[in-house]
Amino acid sequence: MKAIRKAVFPVAGLGTRFLPATKANPKEMLPIVDKPLIQFAAEEAVAAGIDVLIFIIGRNKNSIPDHFDKAFELETKLEEGKKQEMLGIVRNILPSHVDCVYIRQAEALGLGHAVLCAQSVVGDEPFAVLLADDLIDAGERTCLNQMVDIHNHHHCSVLGIERVEPETVNRYGIIDSSAMAERLTKVNAIVEKPAIDKAPSNLAVVGRYILTPRIFKLLEQTERGAGNEIQLTDGIAKLLKEETVLGYEFEGKRFDCGSKLGYLHATVEFALKHTELRKDFENYLRDLTEKI
Ligand code: UTP
Repeated sequence: MKAIRKAVFPVAGLGTRFLPATKANPKEMLPIVDKPLIQFAAEEAVAAGIDVLIFIIGRNKNSIPDHFDKAFELETKLEEGKKQEMLGIVRNILPSHVDCVYIRQAEALGLGHAVLCAQSVVGDEPFAVLLADDLIDAGERTCLNQMVDIHNHHHCSVLGIERVEPETVNRYGIIDSSAMAERLTKVNAIVEKPAIDKAPSNLAVVGRYILTPRIFKLLEQTERGAGNEIQLTDGIAKLLKEETVLGYEFEGKRFDCGSKLGYLHATVEFALKHTELRKDFENYLRDLTEKI
């Protein structure tokens, strides 16, 4: 099986939970302190050896290509002002060997449809999908790195999974599975946003996937499902009837930055690790907690 070289970033959702911030900007451009969510995800992919980044963009189509593109005017100003550190940050958003491809999803028909939009660029090879609003802090060995290792060993699709609070299963794709090894399980069934009393487990699929190209043909045959959207989960449900699909409980901490509370958690925790801010922010939080 071929190595994982391509990653798909669906960023065409409407982001309704973050309105009005997402009225003119994709939610994946929301910053955690000073870095947009999409950049965290792109860096995770590059660290896992990926060199083609495929963005599925929607109605707010410009800001993500602009973010990864060269910014001539800004660079000239920073150069003139001798702001070398800032210049380095702006110039090195991505390493030079990495290519970016942008595909328009004309209508937000669902995550499954967004992934299907990448078919012609991905071609006949396994690929990764990263949902940037799931920010995963895993240190040196990123979540996708861990999953690529599992894929390289087992040569099949791998889903990033996490145990969630039983009362939250109706927000996720939930799997029924058979344990194989520590952190590794074989997926037997998957269901999108089940009612709490119908969920087969509390093992949820989060925003990291490695998929074989067979998924494209199956997504083509997938009707609209939950929320009247073409669901990636429904495509995966078909895939696991034909091929082995593994679930991998990654090491690391996930922040659900598609929700306001998860976004705030990530902001606070990343600010507390930020070299420039850490001390002042810690003092601020200490003062604040004394007052409340
Ligand atoms: P979400 O389920 O989080 O939906 O999408 P959303 O529209 O982004 O946000 P809310 O729920 O309205 O607040 C999961 C991922 O799939 C992408 C989103 O950008 C997000 O990364 N997506 C979803 C698409 O690219 N296209 C779609 O049609 C739907």
